[in-house]
Amino acid sequence: STTRRFEFNVKWKNVKRLCNTRPVLTVNGEYPGPTISVHEGDNVEVKVTNRVDMNTTLHWHGIRQLRTGWADGPAYVTQCPIGTGKSYTYRFTVVDQRGTLWWHAHLSWQRSTVNGAFIIYPRMPYPFSVPIQEEIPITFGEWFNSDVMAIEKDMMLTGVGPNASDAYTINGLPGPLYNCSLKDTFIKTVEHGKTYLLRIINAALNDELFFAVADHTLTVVEIDAVYTKPFTTKAIMIAPGQTTNVLLTANQKPDSTGMFVLAARPYLTSIFPFDNSTTIGFLKYKTTKSKETVELPLPPYTLPSNLPALQDTEFATEFAKQLRSLGSAQYPCKVPKKVHKQVITTIGLNLQECTPNKTCKGFRNQRFLASMNNQSFIRPPISILECHYKNLSMANLFSNFPEKPPVPFNYTGVNPLTENMNAEFGSKLVVVPYGTRLEIVLQDTNFLNPENHPIHVHGHNFFIVGRGFGNFDAEKDPLHYNLVDPPERNTVAVPIGGWAAIRIHADNPGVWFIHCHLEEHTTWGLAMGLVVQEGKNPSQCLIPPPDDLPPC
Ligand code: C2O
Ligand code: CU
Repeated sequence: STTRRFEFNVKWKNVKRLCNTRPVLTVNGEYPGPTISVHEGDNVEVKVTNRVDMNTTLHWHGIRQLRTGWADGPAYVTQCPIGTGKSYTYRFTVVDQRGTLWWHAHLSWQRSTVNGAFIIYPRMPYPFSVPIQEEIPITFGEWFNSDVMAIEKDMMLTGVGPNASDAYTINGLPGPLYNCSLKDTFIKTVEHGKTYLLRIINAALNDELFFAVADHTLTVVEIDAVYTKPFTTKAIMIAPGQTTNVLLTANQKPDSTGMFVLAARPYLTSIFPFDNSTTIGFLKYKTTKSKETVELPLPPYTLPSNLPALQDTEFATEFAKQLRSLGSAQYPCKVPKKVHKQVITTIGLNLQECTPNKTCKGFRNQRFLASMNNQSFIRPPISILECHYKNLSMANLFSNFPEKPPVPFNYTGVNPLTENMNAEFGSKLVVVPYGTRLEIVLQDTNFLNPENHPIHVHGHNFFIVGRGFGNFDAEKDPLHYNLVDPPERNTVAVPIGGWAAIRIHADNPGVWFIHCHLEEHTTWGLAMGLVVQEGKNPSQCLIPPPDDLPPC
């Protein structure tokens, strides 16, 4: 098989957006970052060199890293960070995966600008028969006028929610609805009658997004690098961490400008002040004129009428319901029909007394935290994977993660503000034998703020066998699970004030991070670790750690 090599230099670069120039962290000076394109089955080697004054790591989001957990990337989970002036080469093979994924920094809030597409071309032709004229990568992001790491720091000092971003972006471009951004507008020329494959990535830090193209429908064919049963929709909902491939056919009648607006704005389920602005770009139909000008139409710009409203939970729910694994002979749906173990965990916010910290000005003199089963995750100063592999004493640091909420209560009832919400700090782990079929029920809590959390699992895809609103009912809800063609993915948007049940075939030995992909929640501790033990034969074991693995 082929080995594809990449050189990634993490460095500062001055970038100007919204009439504001600031140094941003980049890979190779590119914003947004470079696209990695490989083929299914390829070996990949990315040599990452840290040329900045802070630690860093990179993560290949959604890549399974079968037996190569050393290359997964979350700081202090699978590796110690790459220090200033140091290099680390991430080596892995793309096994049995195809589609759109992405890569991003996995330390602090660096992923805000350090991210890019990771495209895996399939061995076999696409399972949809329309000819594709062109593939168009579309990455959504958030632009901040001030230093992102400072915002994170400030949030931890003050104990309140972080400043909202100043703009959403399409491939790094905010578009004409923002100040001073006319030139920074995404425009894509298409031909009438042709079909395009949009590879959509949500790389925003803290917001789930709706996306629509005026007058056009989108046909979803893949999520998180897994083919789906195609379905046609007026818009999509995409959470941070998720990727969605859609087909778009340019089959409308353009007006004299030849332009159609495409737009993304947040799906807001939080009470916190969020950026509620909209990024737009344009699809430009090619004309027969010999001299083609791609000029922006004059304002005002009308948002697509098919773009869901900011709080359209009904659309988000209906959209999620339509997602189904393709389940063809070639790409069967391998959902575990039975499970060996079930973990039920709350996901939500907590409060902690501010005192004696003078800088803290949180809610009722308390600061925000977040947790799973009241365990607020803190990253240890060592690599958990290394400790696990070398059998270093893990003492009580990594002792068992509680498999049920400590005190059951009405999670989604009115104001369940009780002593049950006191979190404890730690780095507890769920440990399972190789091959375990594991079910995790993720239960949102109404504490202060019910909210749609995008939960991401490293090292494995999972199947979303059930989801609903209110409290999970362990008796009744499993009767309605979809065990035929549930969607398979790596990041699930757990319904606001509700739950989702996911099933994992734990066949990848190592230590795997599970966390909310809203960066503010990860920082507050909404995370846990899953340890999959090694199996009996060598093919069920981790490869030995690479020589250049960074030390702590
Ligand atoms: Cu996309 Cu743990 O991350
Ligand atoms: Cu969250």
